[in-house]
Amino acid sequence: MSQPIIPVAVLGATGSVGQRFVSLLDNHPWFKVVALAASDRSEGKKYAEACRWVLNDPMPDWAREMTLVSCLPDTIRDARIVFSALPADQAKDLEPQFAQAGIAVCSNASSYRRAEDVPLLLPEVNADHIGLIKQQRLHRGWSGAILTNPNCTSTGLTVALNAIQDSFGLKRAFVVSLQALSGAGYPGVPSLDIIDNVIPNIGGEEEKVEWEPRKMLGSFTPQGIQLADVKFSAHTNRVAVVDGHTVCASVELDAPASPQEIIAALSAYRAHPLAAGLPSTPDPVILVRSEADRPQPRLDRFTGKGMSTVVGRVRPDPLLHIKFVVLSHNTIRGAAGGSIYNAELLVSEKLL
Ligand SMILES: NC(=O)c1ccc[n+]([C@@H]2O[C@H](COP(=O)([O-])OP(=O)(O)OC[C@H]3O[C@@H](n4cnc5c(N)ncnc54)[C@H](OP(=O)(O)O)[C@@H]3O)[C@@H](O)[C@H]2O)c1
Repeated sequence: MSQPIIPVAVLGATGSVGQRFVSLLDNHPWFKVVALAASDRSEGKKYAEACRWVLNDPMPDWAREMTLVSCLPDTIRDARIVFSALPADQAKDLEPQFAQAGIAVCSNASSYRRAEDVPLLLPEVNADHIGLIKQQRLHRGWSGAILTNPNCTSTGLTVALNAIQDSFGLKRAFVVSLQALSGAGYPGVPSLDIIDNVIPNIGGEEEKVEWEPRKMLGSFTPQGIQLADVKFSAHTNRVAVVDGHTVCASVELDAPASPQEIIAALSAYRAHPLAAGLPSTPDPVILVRSEADRPQPRLDRFTGKGMSTVVGRVRPDPLLHIKFVVLSHNTIRGAAGGSIYNAELLVSEKLL
């Protein structure tokens, strides 16, 4: 699809997710960054001065010299899309101001994920839920929009569950996460708390993992999203991994299936037709590894440039039906890359 370049901005540009946005938007074929914004601690400073860059890829030259502005629509008038990597409290106040000003907000924050008129999107799974934007504009009387992506632990899990749901139906899922440090933002968890340790509690995370997949695996109806009738139980843990969330899942299906049938369904899974062929469409959407000790965060997190979901260890479960391990990159597919994919869908559906 050829189209004019769209001006965009990043809110929370100095943080863990904000840096991923800056990196992934470098040379994006559709989007050009016209503003970077952060808190009043950073406002007025050059990006290179305010940001403690933690990515392996170098900070893009165009970003180094940009002066950080405040996260308000008045200071970011030129952007048609803002990518929000704000903490949830700030996102709750600020994101509607942008939507009111006619700007589309692609948000990583949890503030509006549960709102009935706000799409919670993994385009490869539920691209049709973008239809909620029309209802949102009608209800809220704004010409902008708020679109959200799920919490980073639900991301790969939901992609894998959708492939299984489509072929065999789903009743229950019991999941245990091993979550990377970058998921806690920067500087995040103190080193003395996490080295030689596992922290078996991440505030609010279990509730998100038990609810968000139900919205994404649900159906879009004229009355809104009908939640999928699947029950979840989640344990969420922080581990000493830099990037890449691992989830161990056991699932009960509508009807039993063999590991071979599950592997075939996962391998054959393709992105939703509305979300295929976009610049950020994962390739492959799901990669199934056959080795007994994969996926591993250090070896597998950059599969498909960090946008693919990697599944392995598919085997029978003695309590439910099937168990497996799923890995996805939390700040790429689970955050910035996911938001950019959502924005591409918004543009390709002519909803911008
Ligand atoms: N990390 C992940 O894997 C992940 C995945 C999915 C979703 N998320 C969500 O994405 C959001 C960002 O997470 P993160 O991990 O990138 O956090 P982070 O590293 O703590 O970064 C927060 C960013 O927000 C800015 N900020 C803080 N307070 C602000 C305020 N009052 N006004 C304006 N800007 C403010 C910070 O700017 P300063 O540098 O100026 O303080 C920084 O740029 C959160 O809502 C998080 O839950 C994160």
